[in-house]
Amino acid sequence: ADDGYRLWLKYDLVADATQRAQFRAVAQYIAASGNDVVLKTAAAELQRGLQGLLGQAVPVVAAAPVGTQRGVVLTINPTANVFGSSTSRDAYHIAPQGRHLAVTGRSGAGVLYGVFALLRQLQTGQAIANLTLTSSPRIQYRLLNHWDNPNGTVERGYAGASIWKWNELPQRLDPRYTDYARANASIGLNGVAINNVNASARYLTPEYLEKVKALAGVFRPYGIRVYLSVFWAAPKVIGGLKTADPLDPQVQQWWAAKTEEIYRVIPDFGGFLVKANSEGEPGPQDYGRNHAEGANMLAAALGAHDGIVMWRAFVYKAGSDDRFKQAYEEFKPLDGKFAPKVLVQVKNGPIDFQAREPFHPLFGAMPRTPLVLEVQLTQEYLGMATHLVYLAPLFKECLNADTQTQGPGSTVARVVDGSLDQHRLSGIAGVANIGADRNWTGHPLGQANWYAFGRLAWDHTLSSAAIATEWTKMTLTREPRAVASIVDLMDRSRDIYVRYTTPLGLHHIMGQNIHYGPEPWLAQAGRPDWTAVYYHKADSAGLGFNRTATGSNALALYSAGVQQEWGDPQTCPLNYLLWFHHVGWRQPLPTGRSLWHELVTRYYTGADSVTWMQQRWASVQPAVDAALHADVAARLEIQRREALWWRDACVLYFQTYSKQPIPAPFAPPT
Ligand code: GCU
Repeated sequence: ADDGYRLWLKYDLVADATQRAQFRAVAQYIAASGNDVVLKTAAAELQRGLQGLLGQAVPVVAAAPVGTQRGVVLTINPTANVFGSSTSRDAYHIAPQGRHLAVTGRSGAGVLYGVFALLRQLQTGQAIANLTLTSSPRIQYRLLNHWDNPNGTVERGYAGASIWKWNELPQRLDPRYTDYARANASIGLNGVAINNVNASARYLTPEYLEKVKALAGVFRPYGIRVYLSVFWAAPKVIGGLKTADPLDPQVQQWWAAKTEEIYRVIPDFGGFLVKANSEGEPGPQDYGRNHAEGANMLAAALGAHDGIVMWRAFVYKAGSDDRFKQAYEEFKPLDGKFAPKVLVQVKNGPIDFQAREPFHPLFGAMPRTPLVLEVQLTQEYLGMATHLVYLAPLFKECLNADTQTQGPGSTVARVVDGSLDQHRLSGIAGVANIGADRNWTGHPLGQANWYAFGRLAWDHTLSSAAIATEWTKMTLTREPRAVASIVDLMDRSRDIYVRYTTPLGLHHIMGQNIHYGPEPWLAQAGRPDWTAVYYHKADSAGLGFNRTATGSNALALYSAGVQQEWGDPQTCPLNYLLWFHHVGWRQPLPTGRSLWHELVTRYYTGADSVTWMQQRWASVQPAVDAALHADVAARLEIQRREALWWRDACVLYFQTYSKQPIPAPFAPPT
């Protein structure tokens, strides 16, 4: 039975003997010379992959032997003229060279990415004899963010406990850390922030730095650097200072010395991730300083070291008329004030990883600051590890959104990859869905979200279906009809989830604290912007948050073109309608139905679609491992029941305001 541990790196024997023979003919040895540690990893990984896929040992040699044998030659060549226009150190080029197949990288990491690309070709059943492939990442810093705590729990972690066993580190290195690094490298990720953004100061103590060093040592051969989330008040908590004011010389000195200490222990340390003055976390504003003053202090502490600061823009305070606007209001005025090593990290949407959000208005609004796009792989608001929701369509929707800030084509993707404003630095971060479950992500198909994030971080122009196809072939089956069915199921799953939970632009109506299941009636929480009624604003007239000029005017944060389209309920895409408009229950929509009728239709058809998902999944049973199939089938049954829960809770609750019957054919028989 497939326990899911191997992820997409299965390397099972290629079933077709002819194909296997073809592969064998071109890969009789692997040549790799030099001492680069990542190059060595590449050679070993290729050897491991070929051993499995071809069912035979392929030797690694220092140089291609004379003769007629054909092999794969791995070379680092920073000055080769084969990488196209990209200047990325991670670039690779694969091409036939005489009788060999050459994998050339600008660095060891480039070769490693090339090797994984080659293995992917084999795993997905494509020929390699005449393979020519040039590739380089569009985004430079491609990170997972772990929200893991020292006590082994994970903030919003839906695959159980943390994979980091702090009590065992640094003496024992769980072999799992290596497999984790392999998986990340295989999809092009090159950085890991290992601890929660709600950070403990502990990670900066000598005791923990030794543990972090041990992890960094496992990741280094895979081209992966370690980053730390820092607790702003660390100089007070572990440094014995009376203040954490970024303009205080003692505080500055403390961070500079701490940074030196870190680099002595971890010479290739990646840098700092900071959540400050958000949800109760301390920050520079506690001392009357702004985010730029805080971030720049840390950038100064990094000095000449090759590290960066990723400063999060996820901030909001009680008392605002609309939480939607707050990050923009705090950060937009600071554009141009950040030091060159600082990137500002922005969630895809303005509220918080909802099933569907309009793109965050900061994208396009801070041309002088490199912005990191932060997306969530862990399905905090998307049914956790029980609902099947493939997230590439969500990521793509944001990446493809046109901010229009510099005319048409100013997409979020171009803001983030730095091409729109010619930034030297660019970054993307995914909040990890990885935990201690044997299969890493709890839901077996959650693995696809990890995979898709890496592939899009590398190349955001890939389509979600293409990525799903790759992943399915590598992970589940290569039977063509089954692949097509699974990809179809995956690609529709996010829209289906939206329909049965938050159709038409509803948002933040989930269960309190746990963020699971429906609770649209929630009216009392710690503060108004943690309730549901704050967001849906249902009343006898209609439903939705008026963010036009007659409401909170959050719409004014977007460029004129976006405002024009979204500001008019007639032209606003239905997917965003209730994000921006309070719409009358009887208001006709472009679908020909009234708001009420459309809302009910979406809830009912959305819930019905889960039955369709179950049927689809049932149809692929012969092509998929039995245990894995049963696992997903059982989760789909939970999903079906919970889709009905969402549907009934929301429709019946909103009906108390609309005071209209449930229309045919959805009305239960009387
Ligand atoms: C959400 C989430 C928190 C998390 C926060 C963040 O609010 O519920 O658990 O800490 O996002 O991104 O900082």
